[in-house]
Amino acid sequence: MSKRAFLTGITGQDGSYLAEFLLEQGYEVHGMIRRASTFTTGRIEHLYRDPHNSDARLFLHYGDLTDGQSLTNLILALEPDEIYNLGAQSHVRVSFDQPAYTLQATGAGALNVLEAARQLNKKKTAKVYQASSSEMYGDVLETPQTEKTPFRPQGPYACAKVYAYHQTVNYRESYGLFAVNGILFNHESPRRGETFVTRKITRAAGRIKLGLQDRLYLGNLDAKRDWGFAKDYVRAMWLMLQHHEPDDFVIATGQTHTVRSFLELVFAKLQLDPEQFVAIDPRYFRPAEVNLLLGSAEKARDVLGWKATTTLNELVDLMVDHDLELARQECLIAKSR
Ligand code: NAP
Ligand code: GDD
Repeated sequence: MSKRAFLTGITGQDGSYLAEFLLEQGYEVHGMIRRASTFTTGRIEHLYRDPHNSDARLFLHYGDLTDGQSLTNLILALEPDEIYNLGAQSHVRVSFDQPAYTLQATGAGALNVLEAARQLNKKKTAKVYQASSSEMYGDVLETPQTEKTPFRPQGPYACAKVYAYHQTVNYRESYGLFAVNGILFNHESPRRGETFVTRKITRAAGRIKLGLQDRLYLGNLDAKRDWGFAKDYVRAMWLMLQHHEPDDFVIATGQTHTVRSFLELVFAKLQLDPEQFVAIDPRYFRPAEVNLLLGSAEKARDVLGWKATTTLNELVDLMVDHDLELARQECLIAKSR
């Protein structure tokens, strides 16, 4: 019989790649989605078949991380083998505007997942993956950051993730739950949300190249990030749940670059001059900034056999090509009107 996975955050960047990966591995995949006034399933539409077809293996259910009761009902009814908690209010800048909601969705939401898994555990063992974040290191206490580096969170999002991290360890140690933290450094893709800096840059560059936009407003260009490819990173999530014992792992490339160099790389690929099109807007600065992230994924390499396989240059190519094509389609639509 095939394994059953339950994913929160299936409509997001990582959820879509993980669902794709698990379906390829033969899993039956159940995703929780939120009700919205417009469709939010664009990233998984290509995976979705009529659920009444006998070959359908992806199923969607309404729910919300802040609604512990419905989440528990779902998990108890579905009895998944593996639970991936990828849902979160995941935008750091937005978390300063909505700290209480971020705590509910990103922090308490993770607790709701763990509690539901604990209840299910009386009947059936379900392994839990918690989407922890390099943002927890904040004002970093050592470089590179490893599983042993202490956290010094710099904002509401990071504080909520630190809470979720510790609860994951707590449920493992208190109740023997197979619960793991993947401490993932920034990972990007053509499916990255358009308000995160890499996608904001590639999307704008494609539109500028085709004359659809003439300005890109950004914040702090000096921050450094360890950027990998999301598709590589979801494989690591799965590997953590296949390991014989639950543990926490850093997933990173081991390379760091400034936002400015990412911008220059993208614009150079399209023969554009950033000086001509980019302006700084203080609205995009954060009350507290995380200046430097650089991860060491040595433990994941040694224990799980995982390592990043996509270079920053290759990632930029993927994103630029995708967003240039998107801009071309925008031009065609505009012309046909
Ligand atoms: P994303 O694209 O922003 O996706 C977030 C997902 O969470 C979406 O499916 C969203 O649903 C869902 N969600 C938000 N609030 C929810 C709620 N209250 N109840 C249920 N679902 C909710 O994020 P991502 O980049 O895929 O990241 C996946 C996870 O990894 C997140 O937990 C993020 O914090 C964490 N993480 C990400 C990175 C990274 O670099 N990408 C690094 C480390 C950790 P809607 O579509 O309805 O909004
Ligand atoms: N979003 C954004 N928009 N960021 C900007 C901008 C801008 O216009 N201009 C400069 N930046 C800088 C930010 O200040 C930050 O230092 C860096 O670009 C990266 O910002 P984001 O792409 O928004 O990502 P993040 O590092 O804050 O958070 C992402 O990575 C975390 C892992 O470290 C998110 O995916 C989090 O959910 C994730 O946990």
